[in-house]
Amino acid sequence: SPVIPFVVAVDGPAGSGKSSVSKEVARRLGFGFLDTGAAYRALAWHAEASGIDTDDGASVASCLASFEYRIGTDPSGYAVHVGDTDVTDAIRDPLVSAVVSRVARVPEVRTHLIELFRSIMANEAKPGIVVEGRDITTVVAPDAPVRILLTAAEDVRIARRSAELVGDSAQAAGEQLHRRDQADSKVVDFMNAAEGVTTVDSTELDFDQTVDAVIDVIRAVQPAL
Ligand code: DC
Repeated sequence: SPVIPFVVAVDGPAGSGKSSVSKEVARRLGFGFLDTGAAYRALAWHAEASGIDTDDGASVASCLASFEYRIGTDPSGYAVHVGDTDVTDAIRDPLVSAVVSRVARVPEVRTHLIELFRSIMANEAKPGIVVEGRDITTVVAPDAPVRILLTAAEDVRIARRSAELVGDSAQAAGEQLHRRDQADSKVVDFMNAAEGVTTVDSTELDFDQTVDAVIDVIRAVQPAL
């Protein structure tokens, strides 16, 4: 029978560094990596490309029928496809970020994508997989042997997110991050650690220290890794 991969579940708000940190943790452990936010972003892109009104939940749900989503789990380079279109870069567009919360709050969307994430996890060929998002520790993989909430103070998250931007666009990025967290946390609570979830606060840590802190949490559970 197939070996069940060791799951490391990581949740946290926007700009917490969970994507880059999770990716590096996966690389160091020889694990796969799954960015679940990419699926919500890809569906938002697909809805926009289909001319759907993303404010209308029923229309968004109807988009699922034609949503052919593919994502790899190689932490050193994964591409995101919708059908034959490579949307790896397009899903990072601020226009997608602006509408993705509306797509992610539709119940049919969540049910559909949660199933998809579980099947990707179950099919991982590597000995483990780091899965990051907002509801991984609580809904997608509540039985994962390692569950982490990666947080940082909001001003620090905004500063990191807008480090490469200047002036108005830096301020706009900060405002959007705040608005998106407000909207998203109405759907799932990723600001407070659920029972049994370990908080890693990166406010005072640099990237490498944060990666080390996450690996320490994993090795406390499974010293052989
Ligand atoms: O992590 P991210 O910024 O790429 O996520 C994009 C959006 O997807 C985010 O605004 C909330 C939603 N999301 C979610 O609802 N549940 C997840 N597990 C991951 C992301």
